[in-house]
Amino acid sequence: MTFQTITAVVLALSAISCASKSNSRHFGKTPSGETVDLYTLTNGRGMEATISTYGGVVVSLIVPDRTGTAGDVVLGFDNFEGYLKSPPYFGAIIGRYGNRIAHGKFTLDGVEYTLAKNNGENSLHGGNRGFDKRLWTVKSSSGQSLVLAYLSKDGEEGYPGNLATTVTYTLTDNNELRIDYAATTDKDTVLNLTNHSYFNLAGQGEGDVLGHQVTIHADRFTPVDKTLIPTGELRNVEGTPFDFRQPHAIGERINSGDEQLTLGGGYDHNFVLNRAGAGLELAATVSEPKTGRVLEVFTTEPGVQFYTGNFLDGTLTGKGGKVYGRRSAFCLETQHFPDSPNKPDFPSVVLKPGGHYQTTTVYRFSTDSGR
Ligand code: GLA
Repeated sequence: MTFQTITAVVLALSAISCASKSNSRHFGKTPSGETVDLYTLTNGRGMEATISTYGGVVVSLIVPDRTGTAGDVVLGFDNFEGYLKSPPYFGAIIGRYGNRIAHGKFTLDGVEYTLAKNNGENSLHGGNRGFDKRLWTVKSSSGQSLVLAYLSKDGEEGYPGNLATTVTYTLTDNNELRIDYAATTDKDTVLNLTNHSYFNLAGQGEGDVLGHQVTIHADRFTPVDKTLIPTGELRNVEGTPFDFRQPHAIGERINSGDEQLTLGGGYDHNFVLNRAGAGLELAATVSEPKTGRVLEVFTTEPGVQFYTGNFLDGTLTGKGGKVYGRRSAFCLETQHFPDSPNKPDFPSVVLKPGGHYQTTTVYRFSTDSGR
């Protein structure tokens, strides 16, 4: 063999090994022995998202700060076992119904459906075993996108209809994590999908988020009763601690004694987004002064649940041994309003056979230095 031939063979072999270099790895096994994998999306611009086939969980999200230093901005666990111990939905796909349905009941086409009451008197985030606790099938994957699918059977967790769901994660060249949700059903049903990432823009486990500055494009929010079910009122935010139309620090008014904040233990409320149309629109912007990281959330949804990690209490130890204290993260769960199946005046969450559920949410990261 000539030197040229050997060189050509070596180059060909290394090309094959690069092409087949997988962006997936083993994460663990479910109690019933199914394999759970992690897929890492990278965009060559310093951002990286790692997603689990269990729950579609965004396990880590690496984002540069104003100096270009990478940091993980979502709470989670290093090991798969952490996700099996019923953590508070860290990073997961929530379905079939994001947030609460009062008394675990709703009526559709004259039929009453009964759901698990897994949150006091109410049903929360899809019931005992929602989409966050299901193994999703990988439909396709590339370096910058991952398509997950899950078929929820008629009657699963009490919901009607065989529901075929796909969730597509795309890491764009613009440092965005885009999530497209799609679903079809063979029977009338209700549906409200979201993602439950817990963000801390200073880095996961780096203290509380009270200094983060938040803007939410909402003139109204949905006040709740003591079980966190909306009363049905769409209340003007004017003159309340819910007015985030101009930036405010999360901690500025959170302990003000406002009745709604007392009920929520902090912010745990659905904001009614000001919308110009049906497309992707800016819902909220959050910036963190120390690192300069900025998160903008765009969505096609009518609402967003702003939750300030009020139920975190320091009993969970997450990635890198970090302890997650109260209010050490915030969530912006884009959604239809809680308890919509029982609130005829709220935008409808009914999906019918032949209809296509299609929503998109984009988490765009940048820094205040314009990087
Ligand atoms: C949502 C709810 C909160 C809480 C968290 C998970 O944001 O609105 O009340 O249940 O999920 O802990």
